[in-house]
Amino acid sequence: MTNKVSILTTASCFPKKILTNADLEKMVETTDQWIVERTGIRERRIASADEEEWPSDLAARAAKKALEEIDFDPNTIDGIICATMTPDYPAPGVAYLVQKKLGLTNQCMAFDLGAACSGFVYAFNTATSYIKSGFLHNVLVIGSDCTSVYTDYRDRNTCILFGDGAGVALLSSRSDGQGDVLGFSLGANGHNGSFISVKNGGCAHPITKDNVEDRDRFLRMQGRETFKNAVKVMEENSLETIARVGLKLEDIHWMIPHQANKRILEAVAQRMGFPSEKVIMNIERFGNTTAATIPTCLDEGIRDGRIQRGQYVLFTAFGAGLSWGSTVLRY
Ligand code: UT7
Repeated sequence: MTNKVSILTTASCFPKKILTNADLEKMVETTDQWIVERTGIRERRIASADEEEWPSDLAARAAKKALEEIDFDPNTIDGIICATMTPDYPAPGVAYLVQKKLGLTNQCMAFDLGAACSGFVYAFNTATSYIKSGFLHNVLVIGSDCTSVYTDYRDRNTCILFGDGAGVALLSSRSDGQGDVLGFSLGANGHNGSFISVKNGGCAHPITKDNVEDRDRFLRMQGRETFKNAVKVMEENSLETIARVGLKLEDIHWMIPHQANKRILEAVAQRMGFPSEKVIMNIERFGNTTAATIPTCLDEGIRDGRIQRGQYVLFTAFGAGLSWGSTVLRY
């Protein structure tokens, strides 16, 4: 028999600084109207070193809040998995910094996982597999990114989209009788990796004194191609996952898709025939926060009472790699 997996607590943390569409109008040739109509985004948060708002800071603040709210002893966490594309440092990873910032002394396993905008779904399902197999019991799953650092504020195709933030969920075998992660499907297509990429800054093209001014250290995206792939893959992958767990579309109470563009989310829901009012979104206020979009939407839906215990929730994500994944859970 495998363990059930419950979500015990969630929380989010965003940087203080708000970057509005009006601010962007002063930086690149764009308009508030274009951004709202083409993406649904009105503002996003930008991390600042002065405020100590790097991925591990945001994640640790969210985790502290989540654990304190249910009076959970941090030292009973036996695993930390952090999905991030933008770690504070090449080493140590964000998960280790969070372990330290939470004051954990139990030496539990911890690691970062890189699957860009699909990262949280990958991390969530890795944690689920560990718990179902009995290997771990309480896993802190994090999605935390500061993609603003890799954003070119001279490129109007991308700078309007990204924001920073972190969301966490504590998964546990300590079942309340209702909650369980029912199943998932994950996929990738490295052949189209160039759709979303950052050329400089890794081993292949390190930052040197000669290229330090190059704009190749920023994220580039083939927006239209990514958009088309995202809609198709998120629809197919969601339907595949729902069928795999033996449910029907009408059984799903809430869909939480990765927040890349409001038009993508609306198109996915429309093609699936899923009611748009059951799609949880925070893109208008936070933009695309990479690995943090799904856990922050989950947290918001639980806090405002939309997501109730016993309801079925679908996560679906698509991002750089290309990578994608969906999960169905009973909250
Ligand atoms: O999280 C990872 C996954 N990411 C995504 O899924 C993002 C997917 N892509 C998108 O969200 C959209 O493709 C964008 C928001 C990036 C672009 O929207 P679009 O509706 O696909 O526009 P487009 O690229 O087809 O460009 C249409 C026009 C172009 O002008 P021309 O060539 O027709 O004269 C662009 O230069 O809109 C122009 N444009 C802008 N105009 C004003 C592009 N960005 C802007 C801008 N303001 N910010």
